[in-house]
Amino acid sequence: MNRFHILTLFPEMVMDGLNTSIIGRAVEAGHLKIQAVNIRDYSQNKHMKVDDYPYGGGAGLVMQPEPIYRAYEDLVKDMKKKPRVIYMTPQGRVFHQDMAKELAKEEELVFLCGHYEGIDERVLEEIVTDYVSIGDYVLTGGELPAMVMIDAISRLVPGVLHNDDSAGDESFENGLLEYPQYTRPPVFLDKKVPDVLLSGHHENIRKWRHEQSVKRTKERRPDLWKEYEENEGKE
Ligand code: ADE
Repeated sequence: MNRFHILTLFPEMVMDGLNTSIIGRAVEAGHLKIQAVNIRDYSQNKHMKVDDYPYGGGAGLVMQPEPIYRAYEDLVKDMKKKPRVIYMTPQGRVFHQDMAKELAKEEELVFLCGHYEGIDERVLEEIVTDYVSIGDYVLTGGELPAMVMIDAISRLVPGVLHNDDSAGDESFENGLLEYPQYTRPPVFLDKKVPDVLLSGHHENIRKWRHEQSVKRTKERRPDLWKEYEENEGKE
């Protein structure tokens, strides 16, 4: 059972997004728990304000430290050990499959989502253990990045995907992109499903799929191919 806690100003955005499809089913089945904590609930301002102008001037507003800190303290008070707290920021390490695998081992994970021009540095220093970006582009907030990470991590948690093979066979798992897939009908727009897939010859199918994976990785992700070739020699 993995538990995800999301500190956010937009809890419904995260919960609506994650309560559907495979992740939603996994929550219902008890494989995962996903909880959004509204940072605004921890404001002690009479207008429930959570942001203010940046010291030193500049555009936009900065999220204040106290509501975030109070939300965090309230969240961790019953936990046996301090959880990893992931702050979603374009200034972080770029998320990838190996990181997802490592994080899937954690029982509790906290995601901190910022908005506006960021969060007061002092609370980040106090609670954040990991700074993570989902890519070199800037989004309006950390909610979508947190949802991306939770989706990628969740599907590695045992029981979330029904078919035990389905997490192992695909892109990135063996350093190659996944081979092309086909289903019925056998002919579509004059295009036939490759004969080998209809042959029932498992060894030939396995070989064909590997060749397709290699071809695809060379064409589409020469950077991954280079890494694969370098590692292959060593293993
Ligand atoms: N917040 C805004 N942009 C982001 C990104 N690319 N990754 C993670 N968090 C972000």
